[in-house]
Amino acid sequence: MTKHIQFFDTTLRDGEQTIGVNFSIQDKIMLAQKISDWGADVIEAGFPVASENDFKAVRQIGQTITNCNIIGLARCVKKDIDAVIRALADAPNGQIHVFIATSPIHREAKLHMNQAAVIKKITECVSYARQSFEHVEFSPEDATRTEWDFLVKAIRTAIKAGADVINIPDTTGYTNPDEFGALFDYLKKNIPEFDRVTFSVHCHNDLGMATANALAAIKHGATRIEGTINGIGERAGNTALEEVAAAMYVRKDFYQAENHVNLKKTFEIAKMVSEKSKMPIPHNKPITGANVFAHESGIHQDGFLKNHATYEILTPQSVGIAHSSIPLGKLSGSHAVATKLSQLGYQVSSADMQEIFPIFKQVADNQAIVSNDDLRQIMQQFEKVGQMN
Ligand code: KIV
Ligand code: ZN
Repeated sequence: MTKHIQFFDTTLRDGEQTIGVNFSIQDKIMLAQKISDWGADVIEAGFPVASENDFKAVRQIGQTITNCNIIGLARCVKKDIDAVIRALADAPNGQIHVFIATSPIHREAKLHMNQAAVIKKITECVSYARQSFEHVEFSPEDATRTEWDFLVKAIRTAIKAGADVINIPDTTGYTNPDEFGALFDYLKKNIPEFDRVTFSVHCHNDLGMATANALAAIKHGATRIEGTINGIGERAGNTALEEVAAAMYVRKDFYQAENHVNLKKTFEIAKMVSEKSKMPIPHNKPITGANVFAHESGIHQDGFLKNHATYEILTPQSVGIAHSSIPLGKLSGSHAVATKLSQLGYQVSSADMQEIFPIFKQVADNQAIVSNDDLRQIMQQFEKVGQMN
């Protein structure tokens, strides 16, 4: 059966925790508009208690964006929860996200609280938040380094106190797809209320597994994925939501799940986040990087020109990129060179190519890319030799 996966975008909150990123309030409103048009079900607009500007941004986004849910973050602290209540007081779709760390290292080194004290706090803060919000999301921070039996206890406490969304954060990017899947199986088996609430995941990319971990969670029962556009975020970043959306699209057969994302708007939003965060998209970034729909080696170019699906599992148009490219370099083959020449208006026979290709190889061996101008010069050289013979 096809299940629905909600997309929870935290570009404006966890994404802004990237070193050097500071979105203006205007940028945040514009980004929130674009992200909701892209198809996010929930936008985490900020952490209202953190700063005056964060408060204002959450407030204005909550009032302006009406086609998705707007959530504000709070620690399990009354003044944090009160700040979210005030910021989202006039928001038609306002929600709250409260968190407290549950792992031994966080309990001992950061919170100086034992298990019983953490459980008490969860009851207090979730039930307090529930008095003002119909929907409360609870996160046991550093869940993947928490004792599994204590994690169950913390989650059941939050549900009993009124949380209807439980988020499982892999705060330090510590887990892996097998272990995360097994954790979900354990939660499903030991939490009788599992199907009554929404289970969400929030993965960080410290070991490069944020997207894989989120997708494993979908397979094992999560129905909400948290992440950011371009994977920006604290340290190595968060799950890149566009990667999850594309994986669900390409491997619908495997995940058997759908979402509200309009994939065709992906490149547009990725460019905007890149510009506003002043973080260029790496050329090899999955889905939106400049090299993703470019084919350089001769074998790949030949296969691609015969049938694009030989080397592309996703069309560029499906994510809003105009077309693929076949840049020419020293590894390119004659099929690609002849195709490019014909695009430039040259009529070349196979016999001509026998002479043109060695000239091309000579030029290509000494530079990274052979441009259209280089090709025109190669053709001038070829035509000059022809006139001399
Ligand atoms: O990474 C994390 O644990 C968080 C929480 C606030 C959910 O960002
Ligand atoms: Zn996070």
